[in-house]
Amino acid sequence: MMLTDKVAVIYGAGGGTGGAVARAFAREGATVFLTGHVRAPVDVVAKEIAADGGSAEAAEVDALDERAVDDHLQTVIDTAGRVDISFNAVGIRDVVLGVPLAELGVEDFGMPIAVYTTSYFLTARLAARRMIPNRSGVIMTVTALHSRMGIPLVGGYGPAMAAKEALTRDLSSELAPQGIRVVGLRPQGMPETRTIRDAYEPRAAASGMTWEEWQQLLASRTHPRRLMTLEEMANTAAFVASDAASGLTGTTLNLTMGSMDD
Ligand SMILES: NC(=O)c1ccc[n+]([C@@H]2O[C@H](COP(=O)([O-])OP(=O)(O)OC[C@H]3O[C@@H](n4cnc5c(N)ncnc54)[C@H](OP(=O)(O)O)[C@@H]3O)[C@@H](O)[C@H]2O)c1
Repeated sequence: MMLTDKVAVIYGAGGGTGGAVARAFAREGATVFLTGHVRAPVDVVAKEIAADGGSAEAAEVDALDERAVDDHLQTVIDTAGRVDISFNAVGIRDVVLGVPLAELGVEDFGMPIAVYTTSYFLTARLAARRMIPNRSGVIMTVTALHSRMGIPLVGGYGPAMAAKEALTRDLSSELAPQGIRVVGLRPQGMPETRTIRDAYEPRAAASGMTWEEWQQLLASRTHPRRLMTLEEMANTAAFVASDAASGLTGTTLNLTMGSMDD
């Protein structure tokens, strides 16, 4: 197992991405501390992991609340002795989509940029403070191909993703000399997740396509002509978090399977 004896904290663990990453980390032997701003979905993931023989704790933590994140990290240290991995999988639902930039209000534009970057900054900074004394740790997050491609009608989401990737590079430049790696993952949309279906099903309908036809269109842009599964993304996350990836920092892995060139 790749993550035996590792201690991981996952933010947004009740969501599609965070839940899959939590399951993969636990399957690879990590003790996982799962958090979300709403407790019930986090409990579901923790119970599934425990039923499969893994070690998981659930907690309600708003990843935009500095005190809540810091207090929770202290609980993790008190319980498990240290934090080895911090994974921010927070995703917000109320990003304004479908409005041309020429029509978009300033607040609607700025909200996703502020929320995504603040949450990643807070969770990374507070984890780094716990990792620096150990001269060891991995800080991770997830972005989308909007960071590198012009895509219409997505409001502030693209700049938010680009800002997170810049923050990954900057965090690494400061923390890697202290033994801490910082790495992002940039998957293509994974249709199993509620967010992708919610975002794309109306666009499919507006284009006169079924949801299945829309998925085929997205898949046709990848080299293997299919979309990545959540499990594939999560398995990659487990490898990146492991010591086997010790040479990897300051970058965001392109997991778009060829639909976007580097
Ligand atoms: N899904 C994909 O295929 C895909 C592809 C590329 C990139 N991504 C990126 O991956 C991230 C997660 O996406 P997802 O599809 O997994 O979304 P998701 O299923 O909605 O999961 C996001 C989770 O974050 C939680 N959350 C929201 N605000 C929070 C806060 N302040 N503190 C703690 N938890 C909070 C949400 O809780 P509530 O639902 O209760 O609000 C939800 O459980 C996003 O950044 C997205 O851009 C996703």
